[in-house]
Amino acid sequence: VRRLLFAANWKMHLGPDEARAYLKAFRRDCAPIEGREVWFFAPAVSLEAVAHAVRGEGRDDLLAGAQNIHWEPKGAFTGEISGPLAVQAGARATLVGHSERRQLFGETDEQTARKVDAALNAGLVPVLCVGETLSERERDQTIAVVTRQLATALRDGGTVAGGRGTKESAAVARIVIAYEPVWAIGTGRNATPADAAHVHRAIRRWLSDRGMPTTRVLYGGSVNLKNVAELLAEPEVDGVLVGGASLDPSGWTALVRTGAP
Ligand code: PGA
Repeated sequence: VRRLLFAANWKMHLGPDEARAYLKAFRRDCAPIEGREVWFFAPAVSLEAVAHAVRGEGRDDLLAGAQNIHWEPKGAFTGEISGPLAVQAGARATLVGHSERRQLFGETDEQTARKVDAALNAGLVPVLCVGETLSERERDQTIAVVTRQLATALRDGGTVAGGRGTKESAAVARIVIAYEPVWAIGTGRNATPADAAHVHRAIRRWLSDRGMPTTRVLYGGSVNLKNVAELLAEPEVDGVLVGGASLDPSGWTALVRTGAP
């Protein structure tokens, strides 16, 4: 049974008070929908407010996540947040390797691998972001780039194979991949559903070959109310990772409810 995942990436928006007001409106307007989950990747300072707001009243369809973690569990790393600290603030998942981290902050493939490991060790579900730049796409390297990013970040599948404790195994089983073509993020340009499905199939094949056939693969990059339905109509697309169109609770509610009975 496919459980669609709607992931909001708030990026550098919505402080604690704004996050509380947002979640209050969202919870009021968007009752749980069978077969759908909604995850909120909040700025670190708002994590606790979001985690508090998504708990309670028996709602298990909502979850709070961090946008980034450091690979070490603790130490002298001024300005950084570790997996265990994010967990203490109430996070249950974390984005890893978002293209803005890679492009603007120089995050490498190897660092994403260490962050995936750190997330799993802390019991956080990693949402690993992969995607090609425009020039890579124009040189026909999309699949090569995406599989290289997967292979490094998941240690060619070793991440999933290794013997782990219960907490870590539960997180391993829930790893999520987000395919976000860099040229589609925040640009208003998005991949056609067929383009996305083509890359999703390659990702799915790579995952299946390494014993992860049920891993969810999200699409991200300028997803909005107008294009979400046709993207979700692709059986290869298990959900969406949304920046701009997730910042306003009523727009996000409409997006999450798209096509729901
Ligand atoms: P966007 O961002 O929806 O604003 O394009 C998506 C993302 O960066 O995750």
